[in-house]
Amino acid sequence: MKENISVLIDNETIEKRIKELGEQISRDYEGEDIHLVGILKGSVIFMSQLAKCITVPVTFDFMSVSSYGNETESSGVVKIAKDLDEVIKDKNVLVVEDIVDTGRTLSYLLELLKQREPADVKLCTLLDKPDRRVADVHVDYTGFEIPDKFIVGYGLDYAQKYRNLPYIGIIEFEEE
Ligand code: IMP
Ligand code: MG
Repeated sequence: MKENISVLIDNETIEKRIKELGEQISRDYEGEDIHLVGILKGSVIFMSQLAKCITVPVTFDFMSVSSYGNETESSGVVKIAKDLDEVIKDKNVLVVEDIVDTGRTLSYLLELLKQREPADVKLCTLLDKPDRRVADVHVDYTGFEIPDKFIVGYGLDYAQKYRNLPYIGIIEFEEE
């Protein structure tokens, strides 16, 4: 199969929007600290850029979850491959995710984090595909709402490839 990638959101547009998110988050958390929890691996590029645009003190932690499913759809059965390094009790946790698609991964994860009694848990996602939502997930900060297409770049992969693309692209497949 030939893989064709077309630009959906260019780098300049992405980084301008991330700057706005960082400013909004900095205002909302004024006088407080934020514990950023990135979901590996997709959120890494977004979180790095977002953190630079936040002016209140931040700390970083990461979690790796795998949701059993096929290449393009999660199942809702979530396995924690790497848990957080730090205790989140009484912290202002801001979960940073690449994309909320069906919402299954996040709805499971947010419940799990709430059980650990943080002061607060909010969710920031670069992308949201609202048309695909199956599980109820409240998103506090969204970069862009996008149509129901499979996308790659800016941290997002297809079969572990294309995470390094500086833009967000739609990937389509063609018989060779
Ligand atoms: P959900 O549980 O269906 O919301 O799945 C979310 C996860 O599926 C994301 O964190 C991504 O890792 C992956 N995912 C969903 N849609 C896409 C896409 O269009 N491109 C790449 N990964 C995706
Ligand atoms: Mg992910």
